[in-house]
Amino acid sequence: MVLFNVSRKDTIPFDGQKPGTSGLRKKVKVFIQPNYLENFVQASFNALSLTAEKVRGSTLVVSGDGRYYSKEAIQIITKMSAANGVRRVWIGQNGLLSTPAVSGVIRERVGHDGSKATGAFILTASHNPGGPNEDFGIKYNMENGGPAPEGITNKIYEYTTTIKEYFIAEDLPDVDITTTGVTNFTGPEGPFDVEVFDSASDYLILMKSIFDFESLRKLLSSPKFTFCYDALHGVGGAYAKRIFVDELGAQESSLINCIPKEDFGGGHPDPNLTYAKELVARMGLGKSESQGEPPEFGAAADGDADRNMILGKRFFVTPSDSVAIIAANAVEAIPYFSTGLKGVARSMPTSAALDVVAKSLNLKFFEVPTGWKFFGNLMDAGLCSVCGEESFGTGSDHIREKDGIWAVLAWLSILAYKNKDKLEDKLVTVEDIVRQHWSTYGRHYYTRYDYENVDAGAAKELMAYLVKLQSSLSEVNQLIKGVRSDVSNVVHADEFEYKDSVDSSISSNQGIRYLFEDGSRLIFRLSGTGSEGATIRLYIEQYEKDPSKIGRLSQDALAPLVQVALKLSKMQEFTGRSAPTVIT
Ligand code: G6P
Ligand code: ZN
Repeated sequence: MVLFNVSRKDTIPFDGQKPGTSGLRKKVKVFIQPNYLENFVQASFNALSLTAEKVRGSTLVVSGDGRYYSKEAIQIITKMSAANGVRRVWIGQNGLLSTPAVSGVIRERVGHDGSKATGAFILTASHNPGGPNEDFGIKYNMENGGPAPEGITNKIYEYTTTIKEYFIAEDLPDVDITTTGVTNFTGPEGPFDVEVFDSASDYLILMKSIFDFESLRKLLSSPKFTFCYDALHGVGGAYAKRIFVDELGAQESSLINCIPKEDFGGGHPDPNLTYAKELVARMGLGKSESQGEPPEFGAAADGDADRNMILGKRFFVTPSDSVAIIAANAVEAIPYFSTGLKGVARSMPTSAALDVVAKSLNLKFFEVPTGWKFFGNLMDAGLCSVCGEESFGTGSDHIREKDGIWAVLAWLSILAYKNKDKLEDKLVTVEDIVRQHWSTYGRHYYTRYDYENVDAGAAKELMAYLVKLQSSLSEVNQLIKGVRSDVSNVVHADEFEYKDSVDSSISSNQGIRYLFEDGSRLIFRLSGTGSEGATIRLYIEQYEKDPSKIGRLSQDALAPLVQVALKLSKMQEFTGRSAPTVIT
């Protein structure tokens, strides 16, 4: 038994340690300053100590997506946990746990001594690049497995502004995080244990309790079905081989970029058509044609594996369609949902494809502001089973984070279901499923234009201008008709406001909406996750019910609305940009 002492260290506050809903994200250069991480962790302990049992005697999970500086951070947080009276720290092997896996571990895992976790420090900056010159991040999740609510993150921030001291067990030896097992220590207040466990086992158990692995195995191991998964060198790689290859029989060659790397191989670990280049080329969607026949199914994940992108052969599934299709098929295709869905939800800028499914299946439906936390409240109250966002997040009430691998297994389950008994004949493809969905429910043509790193003042002015315009719809419609006479009238315009149906809290200014008579929508929002300047997001959506018109190219169908949106917002005038940075 190794004995340790507690040291009290003097410190002074750092500016700007206010965590967003996704935690504190800064450049590595900022995080490695002496006491920077220590201050934030101590402030978190101080804030959490206000409620009983969250720190003293508690069990904390500490892990993340494996990005640069994670290993050092894990040792620091472990030593500070010991000094602050935490009873146990749980660490995924090599410090790796995906964000959804952490959420699952908090909710489900039972330690070797029967203990349960009370919370987690997740070390990730999600889809932001990693490496010595890139981003590091830390966020705290609560005992329901979801991110700390604003009440707590505000408290943490308050403590960071006044902090004078922190506590650390300096003489606690570094823990070997490469090997699973339990190490016992003893401090002034008694025992302290560190348990290093396999990163994938608990998550695998959870996935097996949700999906029919036997039918998935039949699909994935069939030579007729070809598959490709791109983890973009994020933590998803720690799960991909175990689940897709070892459990479900996919070829090992179906995995690309599945070795987690501290700098994500120098790439941008965000699963979209711009950044998941290798997968996009393999699926026959890139500018240069891939070699040979593309796989039937492709998917990618972000750094911490909570996001997902779903692709068919030469076919892109929009995230908005993806959640609608999962909801429409969940009861038949996924055992976890066999008794029915409690309700479904989407974020405001996500297309209304899910609304049509909810209406037709008579399901409870919620439209919430951007940000996963709003779904968590609904799920805790038993009101929502499946939810999704246009920003490549999809998930369910099995945990309180979005879940990239879950989304892939959900799609594979739908494919397995649609192909059951006919794997020997012609395969029902991803594209078939999507087109079939459109012909049943209509199609929501959808695109998002991002203007990244725009001057913050200019972005604010553009938004203010759009709000002002809303006061006269007749003026708006006149403007629109001057640009395109074939675009329908705006019948309602506002700034989205949400009243949480569980705690009645109100969230205002959640995006500017222009709603058209034919169901089309234009939405303007400032990103809440950018790190430089401002990012303006323009979401463009058009509903088409006529089956003869659902097969058009998205950019052709949306061209008139795009033209209107750019004119209406004076995008070029305000930003000086003639084109968006990214189109998804
Ligand atoms: C994070 C959150 C998502 C949210 C997204 C929005 O990924 O976890 O819930 O949809 O940010 O980002 P934005 O840049 O549009 O504010
Ligand atoms: Zn993420």
